[in-house]
Amino acid sequence: MTTRSVRHADLLAHRAEFPLLARSVYLNTCSLGARSERSRRRLDAYLHDWDTLGARAWYRRWLGELDALREDFGAVIGVPGSEIALAPNVSAALAVIASALHPLHRGDPATAELLGAAGIAAGRGPRPKVITTALDFPTIGHQWLAREALGVELVVLPSPDGIGVPLEAFSEAVDERTALVATGHVYFTTGARVDLGPLADVCHERGALLLVDAYQATGIVPTDVVADGVDVYVSGTLKWLFGGSGTAFAWVRPALHAALAPTTTGWFSSARQFAFAVDELAYAPDGRRYELGTPSMPSAAIARGGMDLVREIGVDRMGERTGDLGDLVIGLAEAAGLQVRSPRDAAARGGIVPIAVADPKPVVDALADEGIIVDFRPGIVRCSPAFYNTEDEVRLLIERVDHLVPAADRAVSPG
Ligand SMILES: Cc1ncc(COP(=O)(O)O)c(C=O)c1O
Repeated sequence: MTTRSVRHADLLAHRAEFPLLARSVYLNTCSLGARSERSRRRLDAYLHDWDTLGARAWYRRWLGELDALREDFGAVIGVPGSEIALAPNVSAALAVIASALHPLHRGDPATAELLGAAGIAAGRGPRPKVITTALDFPTIGHQWLAREALGVELVVLPSPDGIGVPLEAFSEAVDERTALVATGHVYFTTGARVDLGPLADVCHERGALLLVDAYQATGIVPTDVVADGVDVYVSGTLKWLFGGSGTAFAWVRPALHAALAPTTTGWFSSARQFAFAVDELAYAPDGRRYELGTPSMPSAAIARGGMDLVREIGVDRMGERTGDLGDLVIGLAEAAGLQVRSPRDAAARGGIVPIAVADPKPVVDALADEGIIVDFRPGIVRCSPAFYNTEDEVRLLIERVDHLVPAADRAVSPG
């Protein structure tokens, strides 16, 4: 493939903000984004507020910081911060959403009516089915497998080419018994991007909802959840938002709130949180409806540092540089006789480029011994250059993989 030059070299000025980049050739952002000094400063400020203000810091600083974080998340997906629900991780966010779907699974007429008012013609019958794919992150499937005893039926669509799942497969599977399609925006092993608009249309035509796990997309794939017709969006800060663990978020299309009452909940979801009324459950009218309890403020502080950087640089530029570096990986890998298992077109990819290696663990370990950090999944060495990586780092990776992987180990393994 012809690789164009890697754009936005000016962003390399930010390398100095990331201590990890001086210590290793770090090409594993899809697993854990590097931490910037902005996050350390935010964390220091949090500790200072704790030491000087004690509990008063909640009202004077931290509740405001949480609002600012909701704004940060809203800004990268095209919605106001008030529509965002904070969560400690994507699994917890999913558990809250899943807990709100049972009336739809059962065919509750009042819920169908409320969904109808939101433009989802769910009809009167039960909708026990949730559809996901073999390429989705396990926590997606687990939410609904755990509810099988409650009548939920999980359908897992296979990937014919081991890279993506065609729209036609969803189209054939979604029917009048389907409550939800729950799938990724970018698949976590192949980097394939899902075109959300057409998938939302398929769901809505049949009265089903679309939930998107965008963990591998947020921060590098320009996103407008409203324009794309997404119903529920979940993501977090571990990867392409450079904000570490402990902070995730959900967005639910506001028109759906009336139909979705979470049965997994907590006092942060309350309309009158500081009334402390133990006998009253009135959900907040905004995104907080889907929150649980006290967020981890150290995590939130670290996350705000990452979001500061993402918003300063912009998702467009982050995504373009990431895509160009991915193209470089593919071009060099193929020239070296390695096989890549992701879409070749950057517009159809996120930031992940998997290189087929029959036994990847020893290769990833040997690379780590040389200071080159990538990771592995079955049958692949998974690399994920980010905006802060250099072309030389990518060249070094491919040179070393080429050296370490014998020809017999380079075949693409099925799916
Ligand atoms: C696509 C995707 N979804 C979800 C997760 C993680 O979910 P959680 O925040 O529950 O750990 C990851 C990675 O860790 C992921 O790559």
